Amino acid sequence: MSTVFLNGEYMPLESARVPVLDRGFIFGDAVYEVIPVYNRRIFRLDDHLRRLQHSLDAIRLANPYTEARWRELIAPVIARAETDDQGIYLQITRGPAPRDQAIPAHCTPTVFIMAMPLTAPSPDTIAHGVSAITAVDDRWQHCDIKTTSLLANVLLRQRSADAGCTETILLRDGFLTEGTASNVFVVVDGQPVTPPKSHLILPGVTYDVVLEIGGQLGVPCLQRPVSEAELHGAEEIWLTSSTKEITAVVHLDGRSVGPGEPGPVYRTFQGAYQRYKEAVMRGPRT
Ligand SMILES: Cc1ncc(COP(=O)(O)O)c(C=O)c1O
Repeated sequence: MSTVFLNGEYMPLESARVPVLDRGFIFGDAVYEVIPVYNRRIFRLDDHLRRLQHSLDAIRLANPYTEARWRELIAPVIARAETDDQGIYLQITRGPAPRDQAIPAHCTPTVFIMAMPLTAPSPDTIAHGVSAITAVDDRWQHCDIKTTSLLANVLLRQRSADAGCTETILLRDGFLTEGTASNVFVVVDGQPVTPPKSHLILPGVTYDVVLEIGGQLGVPCLQRPVSEAELHGAEEIWLTSSTKEITAVVHLDGRSVGPGEPGPVYRTFQGAYQRYKEAVMRGPRT
């Protein structure tokens, strides 16, 4: 049984309880992170904690812990998890308070950390890619905040689930934003292109890793707006996220992307990503 951290204590998941008046439950007044762990080594924790700080600042919630303390608190959850590869989920809500939308003057945040099984892409997914559909991005205008208020994402993602697809790729005003739980890169004339960071997308940690890999490979990724026509005409389409890593989309809205199999630029980046991951797995535990 996995051990979780809740408000200063470690306990079995089954024993973890939060009050029903918690503003995370009542309003979705909460932020979160999902951080991959490979061979019990946590991946890019500093980047995730930096984004967590951005999310907390955006919702006007003080960070309950320093970076060093977060690291200390997460370590026992990793150590006691059943598997070597995990997804560390951490969530901070504004805490319990009488129901009123205005932010209470005094509130004690709820802090929760658990280890989930990590479902990294299978060899079959890496070899053959996945399918996706497009939909109009009808989420709010603060998609850079990693909040648990995910109802729009849930409904958009369900459309691709209904269609038997892995992801819903979102278009706002005729331009690509991101997936419901991933960033999106396209390959145009052999070059990876991705929408620039803005309030319309989550600044993905994997997005940054892909940009770094591009720099190392001498295949720089362009950050510029991508039109709907470019998305549909792209030579390759990739989804990136902490759990999808780099995943090729080979069918979009029922039509083949390029020849309908993961392309050469994908394979180069995917190989580099795996080598990077392997180096982390052999590296020091944090
Ligand atoms: C909406 C959205 N965009 C992008 C991402 C990718 O972010 P990361 O690479 O940090 O996992 C996620 C991850 O869950 C997401 O939910």
